[in-house]
Amino acid sequence: MKTLKFSNGDTMHAIGLGTWKSTGGDVKQAVKDALQAGYRHIDTAAAYGNEDVIGEALAEVFAEGEIFREDVFITSKLWNDSHAEGQVIPALEESLKKLKLDYLDLYLIHWPVAFRNGVDSPKKPEDYLTPEEAPIIETWKQMEKAKNDGLTRHIGVSNFSEKKLKDLISKATIKPEMNQVELHPLLQQDSLLAYCKSENINVTAYSPLGSGDRSDSMKAEDEPNMMDIETLKEIARDRSAIVPQILIAWHNHRGCAAIPKSTTKDHIIANFKSADVSLTDSDMKKIAKLDRHFRYITGKFFEEPSKGYENIYDE
Ligand SMILES: NC(=O)c1ccc[n+]([C@@H]2O[C@H](COP(=O)([O-])OP(=O)(O)OC[C@H]3O[C@@H](n4cnc5c(N)ncnc54)[C@H](OP(=O)(O)O)[C@@H]3O)[C@@H](O)[C@H]2O)c1
Repeated sequence: MKTLKFSNGDTMHAIGLGTWKSTGGDVKQAVKDALQAGYRHIDTAAAYGNEDVIGEALAEVFAEGEIFREDVFITSKLWNDSHAEGQVIPALEESLKKLKLDYLDLYLIHWPVAFRNGVDSPKKPEDYLTPEEAPIIETWKQMEKAKNDGLTRHIGVSNFSEKKLKDLISKATIKPEMNQVELHPLLQQDSLLAYCKSENINVTAYSPLGSGDRSDSMKAEDEPNMMDIETLKEIARDRSAIVPQILIAWHNHRGCAAIPKSTTKDHIIANFKSADVSLTDSDMKKIAKLDRHFRYITGKFFEEPSKGYENIYDE
């Protein structure tokens, strides 16, 4: 298994288990199946509403005495309603309580957008705090304190453009250590990757398989299905693999982590085995040609120009 390295020497498996849309007994079993299959990297978020069951799964596995807390890299994320002064550390502590942990490995600012406290999903402009009311650097200072206090070993961001990263880095004391963004062959984001590399920021790919289990309201009518792309099917046949494995292996070849979501045991095992799939230069060149800057997660649902949030990805 490839790993991504942090500047203090910590490492993170380049394949982790995603858990958005995974709830209840399904995600509890998925986490157990994943750890048994060899995963040591779990991705969750306050907004996924599943930290408590993931915490139960982790506690039960750790109690068996074969896998220990320090073996597993656990990421959670600050929800958009807890950016304002004094709210970050209580939100992180709430995540830790639910996860039954005393530290996280990585804590991310989920989106570069702030809501009023208690707003899960904004319905009207008043549900937002403007960037002046909740400046991202003030949120970041609280993230830095969380790291300095030992509540999380690493801090980072998610859904940040190069422009937003540059602005944050110019004001930050601790540089973001991770940017978690949508990435896959249809959205390759080479320049964002090059920028992150130049700043020593690790990159994790979300929705690496095309997020096919999102609700219909989040989907475009003519959305492409990556599982059906002929080039990927051919490469999969050549490598005696399946398309999801090619999609995951592609990230690892580019030096990124990928966090495919699954609650199906066979998929969980197959996705982990992507670590054994080697892609050739010729495969990589063929996949490079598939780029069309297509986003499954448009971010439009959080755009509110009247409150200073437009063009979330700055493009
Ligand atoms: N930071 C952010 O803003 C953000 C946004 C989106 C996602 N994320 C993170 O990234 C993770 C992954 O993204 P995602 O949940 O959007 O979607 P995804 O991982 O791209 O796709 C999940 C879908 O693929 C299916 N699947 C998984 N493995 C498969 C396999 N081997 N064969 C066939 N189908 C397979 C899953 O079904 P089964 O469950 O049946 O396997 C599910 O329907 C999330 O869970 C979350 O942790 C973060």
